[in-house]
Order: sequence, then structure tokens, then C-alpha cells
Amino acid sequence: MNYADPKRLKPGEARCPAITTQEIIAGDAHPAPEWVRSESYTFLGDEDFSSDRYTTAEFAEREVASMWPRTWQFACREEHIPEAGDYVVYDVGPYSLIVTRQEDGSIRAHHNACLHRGTKLRHSGTEGNATEFRCPFHGWSWNVDGTCKTVLCDWDLPHAPKEEQGLPQARVATLGGFVFVNMDPDAPSLEDYMGPEALAHFKAWHLEDRYTFLHVMKRLPCNWKLNQEAFHEAYHVLATHPQVSPSNGDANSQYDTYGEHLNRFISTLGVVSPHLYGKITEQDVFEQFTIGDPTSLDGKPRQLAPGETARAAMAKMYRDSFEAANNADLSAYSDSELLDCFSYNLFPNMFIFPGISLPMVYRFRPDPRDHRKSFYEVLFLRPLPTDGSQPVTAECQVLEDHQSFKEAEGMPPAFGDILDQDTDNLFLQQEGLEASMKDSITLANYQEVRIRHFEQAIDRYVAMPPFRKDWQRTRACPGTCG
Ligand code: FES
Ligand SMILES: [Fe+2]
Repeated sequence: MNYADPKRLKPGEARCPAITTQEIIAGDAHPAPEWVRSESYTFLGDEDFSSDRYTTAEFAEREVASMWPRTWQFACREEHIPEAGDYVVYDVGPYSLIVTRQEDGSIRAHHNACLHRGTKLRHSGTEGNATEFRCPFHGWSWNVDGTCKTVLCDWDLPHAPKEEQGLPQARVATLGGFVFVNMDPDAPSLEDYMGPEALAHFKAWHLEDRYTFLHVMKRLPCNWKLNQEAFHEAYHVLATHPQVSPSNGDANSQYDTYGEHLNRFISTLGVVSPHLYGKITEQDVFEQFTIGDPTSLDGKPRQLAPGETARAAMAKMYRDSFEAANNADLSAYSDSELLDCFSYNLFPNMFIFPGISLPMVYRFRPDPRDHRKSFYEVLFLRPLPTDGSQPVTAECQVLEDHQSFKEAEGMPPAFGDILDQDTDNLFLQQEGLEASMKDSITLANYQEVRIRHFEQAIDRYVAMPPFRKDWQRTRACPGTCG
């Protein structure tokens, strides 16, 4: 317990005066792995951030010029492009890449624009299988490996020989079943970008053994950074999601930063929020989890045994019911991995929740036509069945602006409610920042350190000179393709 007087501590040293996340996890029956049990908080300052980063088109243009082309981004999962010729068009801001599986199993990412007069070769946001990429305008075409196949009427273009018309390519890296892209030939490798500690966490999750069973996208009425920052902290849970607080360690969640591009929080579930100490019992927490659960007896939750905690009972119940329903073996997973919310942000726009009960991936992208709008995607990843079968990869369901997340087929209704609550806030926040007489935002030292970590990285990138397009350095060439 941390009962130190906050006035006598240095900035960033104060913590919620309650049981800590690590103390909760240390009491579990199935012990947690090292990546769960570590802490890595650093005080990063307490200055305000100017609001114009959320409210002006100029700031969005600086991100497009200097940040998006230089950073590693999650383009798709490997299961989205299993066969040679399978492709997904990944778009961010004005940039567009055709991410394509090659004959030899490798993956390439071609810039999605014809080298004649610039027409996109595939529509943004589409996917499919291709034997070539043919421009719809005048019919120039490219092989799946990016080498040029046809320059129509090449007798008229002796100054544009086919051998020199390879499509420019972004760099590609795979990790944990994810395909990452980076447009900058001079960027560090994905491993160096993440750093050794973050990489060790990523590898421990074995997310290559999961598959995408739900994928939903919706446009939200706010800047992409506001959209993303709503998921960086558990500080908002009591006010925004009051239905969650009775069984969520919100104010005593743990926050960590790793290097320049990764941060996380751990928010424990099956424990009472410190805001509600003395107001609800362990039995209340357990009942909130089990009411309506078909595994409970007669629709009624059982009574906890004397000394039994809601968290322990929930972990056992969840483990048994998940294994039975999904033909999966969870014996290698700790109680914490089953129950808790682990939220990792890989800069700039990917969230990974490697736990089992909340197995999501989020992606946040700006709307290139309006800096006050953004695209939010949620993918649910489930462990692959133990019988070796390959389940169907979920297609992306695109919701209309007015639709509730609950309308997505397969979305757990309680989770859809939570996302709708977050969305309502974001509309108010975007409008409020523009209406405000204060021209900055203020952040908490501990609970909002991930937002500071993220915005400091944004500031480093937008301070760089604009990224220089260089077709010659990135084009696919016969015999020299990397
Ligand atoms: S613009 Fe593509 S072939 Fe002319
Ligand atoms: Fe939320």
C-alpha cells in the first residue's frame, strides 16, 4: 500500500493510496510471467500541451509530411494475405500501399500509384488476389513483385524503359502474425524501433498463434490523436464507464513506458475500484461478472466461500468456460493474462491488448479529408484451435457514423456499450477544445503519462524536416529486389 503524503513527494512519485496492481497480481493462484510483473514508469514532465495539435489542419499536415512516412505501422495480419497474390491496401493520410504476398511467401508493400500519370492501381481500403496490378487509365501493368510488366505503346516512351519502371516499395517486417510497413528507407529496423525490452514483451505473447475473429471500423468525430488517447488511461473509467468500476482496479492501474515508441497500462479486473472501497463487497464484484452468464447455476451466481475472492473465482470460471467453448488450452496462461486489461501502444497508431479476456488490437488513422475526423478499428484475436484447423479470418465490418458499435455482428453488447460511451466523449472533446478559452490540455503525472509519452514522440517527429519522396531509392528492379 502506498499511503505516502503526496505533498512530500516529487512530481510523478505519488500513487493511488490503494493496493497496487503488482500486489493484486502477486496474490493470484496461477503466477504471472515476467513481462506482467515488471514496472517501467518514468516522470516525463508536467507541462501542458497546446491544443492546436488536435484542432488545426496545419498540425495534421506536419504529421503527414514528417511523421507518418517515417514510422512503423500495422498494415494487416498475416492471415489476411495467406496465398501468393493476396493483397490488402493500407492507407494512412494521403499515403497508400498495396501489401502483397509473394510467390516465395515473403511480403512486399508497393506504393499504390501508377508511374505514368499517377492513377491509383487499386482503390483505397480494398483487398483481393491479383496476378498483376494494371492501371485502369492507360493500361500500364506491374507484376505482383513490383517489376513492370507492360508499358503500353512503349515505342512512344523510349525515355521510360520498362526495366526502370519498378513500383517504389515500403519496407516490410512481420512480428507476432502482424505485418508492419515503413515508407522510410533510412528508418531503423522494427526491432530497433521497438527496443529490446518492448520486443521481449511482444515475443512473449505468441500472437502469431491467434487469428482475427472480429474486425470493425468506424469513423469518429475527432482528431485521430484524441481518438487514440481515450484508450491510453483508466482515469476516465469511473466517470465514463461507471458500470465497469465495481470490478476494475481503475485508479490503481499501472502505467509504464519503454523507450520512445512503446507504452502500456495494466488495469486489473475482478477487484473493487479504489473509488468504491467500503461501498461494495467481493460478492457484489463476483455477481456483476456472473449475472447473465450461462455457466452460473440457474442464472444465479453462487456464493463465494469464506475467504474466497471474486478475482480468484472469476479466473477459475473464465478458464474453465473458455477452454470448453473454444477447444483451447489455457494452462500456459496466468490468471492475470486471463482476466486483466493489458493495453500496449506501439507508436504511432497501434494498440495491442495481449490478454485473453480482452484480446483486441486497435488501429487509429486520420481522415485525410478532415483533421477533425478519424478512423477507429478494433480487431479481436482469439487463440487458434488446438485441433490444427484454420478458422475463417473475419472481414472488416464498416459502421456508418450514426451506428452503435453494438450493431456490429459478433460484438459483445457490453463492450459495444463501452465503445459508444468513449465515442460520445470524443465528439464533446473535439468541440470543447475548439470552444475553450484555454489553449492547452493538462495531464496527470502518473495516470496520463502514456499520453505525454505519445505526444512527446509526435513532437519529435513533426520537428523533423519533411520526408523526401525518392522513387529511385525505393523502386523494385529486376534482379535487385530486396
Ligand atoms: S495513368 Fe496509369 S497508365 Fe496512364
Ligand atoms: Fe473508455
